[in-house]
Amino acid sequence: MVSYKDNQLHMEEVALATIAEAVGTPSYVYSKRYLDEAVTALKAAFAGTPTKIHYSVKANSNLSILRIMATHGCGFDIVSGGELSRVVAAGCDPADVIFSGVGKTTEEIDYAIKLNIHCFNVESEQELSRISERAENLHKIAAVSMRVNPNVDAQTHPYISTGLRENKFGVSVDVARQLYQQASEDPNLNPTGVDCHIGSQISRTEPLLEALTNLLSLVDELDRSGIKLEHIDLGGGMGIRYNDEDPLDIESYGGAVAQLLSGRRQTIFLEPGRSLTANGGVLLTRAEYTKPGASDDIPNFAVVDAAMNDLIRPALYQAWHDVLPVKTQRDAAMTTWQIVGPICESGDFLAKDRQLSIEQGDLLAVISAGAYGMVQASNYNSRGRPCEILVDGDTFSVIRRRETISDQLRLEREQL
Ligand code: LLP
Repeated sequence: MVSYKDNQLHMEEVALATIAEAVGTPSYVYSKRYLDEAVTALKAAFAGTPTKIHYSVKANSNLSILRIMATHGCGFDIVSGGELSRVVAAGCDPADVIFSGVGKTTEEIDYAIKLNIHCFNVESEQELSRISERAENLHKIAAVSMRVNPNVDAQTHPYISTGLRENKFGVSVDVARQLYQQASEDPNLNPTGVDCHIGSQISRTEPLLEALTNLLSLVDELDRSGIKLEHIDLGGGMGIRYNDEDPLDIESYGGAVAQLLSGRRQTIFLEPGRSLTANGGVLLTRAEYTKPGASDDIPNFAVVDAAMNDLIRPALYQAWHDVLPVKTQRDAAMTTWQIVGPICESGDFLAKDRQLSIEQGDLLAVISAGAYGMVQASNYNSRGRPCEILVDGDTFSVIRRRETISDQLRLEREQL
């Protein structure tokens, strides 16, 4: 996705230094080609099964990214009314939306029912009752899928593991059984599918297939009692390589799903976020200052203009992101750097112990930042959120402008 040409780091055919000159830093920069190729590869891996990809909007919700996903025929997995508004604003079809999340409000449910979304992924008994009431009120029938918590260990970071009994997500198989019965007898509801999502950044297929196997026995049981489901949603969670992890082998995942599904009528739904976008983006930043340690046992700090408010993954999950120099032509010796931001917290770091040659003013690219980067950015320390750039071949465009201080102050000035 990025590569060096004449000692200059490029994304596709554009030098990242050219983008930094034009729009400043910090900036998120995404590759359209990467996104296109990632969706195409996932479709190919699942070619053996009728499959519909619902891109998980939470990973990167920029309107231009949503449009790209729609041009590939993807639907969308959303978790809020805000994300549904984004899908609509991007000109995408709400009929291709599935709505996940443990805390859907009445307003969000009404909005989704009015727009005729494809289905709700229901996470509790009370939510099912609320959807039924709202559907009745709006004279509509709401399609529902129960999110089953299959009690499978996804073997990933505890904050992004969601398929165990102790996690807040979904319902047990026993509760799901009752909810399907209830939904099948309710004139306001149509049970059309079943779903699960056991976690994120999963690198082995076994837990995903174990979850599918658990869902299949429920599907068969429901089938025998006359409840015929149309889709099985396996969630997202496909792991990628940030450092030296094994990425999930999507071909063997797709192949194994095809075998387990053979002879069945259901369509497979997938909800990938990270695997389609993470490695298609970088966070471009500039070293404001270097603070070399006075002796060997004191760290060398490179203070850059991006911070934990721009990319919180290292601070929040101890996540590892590669950091590459935008220009490599230099004789200066490599040394070990702590790459930190300007925020007044020791937890404000982007990368630790990196062997690099850094001088004041140098540009750096923080790699694998296309997912859960900009979407988790905040205004901490009253910092404006970065701009977002889309590279396409030898051109680039601003797909979200940099946030200004007036943007931030506006909401408070309105109260004065
Ligand atoms: N479907 C559901 C119901 C989800 O909760 C998620 C992610 C996905 C799909 C997409 O998962 P993916 O394919 O991206 O793994 N902020 C964290 C990741 C949180 C993931 C939350 N749920 C991070 O930066 O690693």
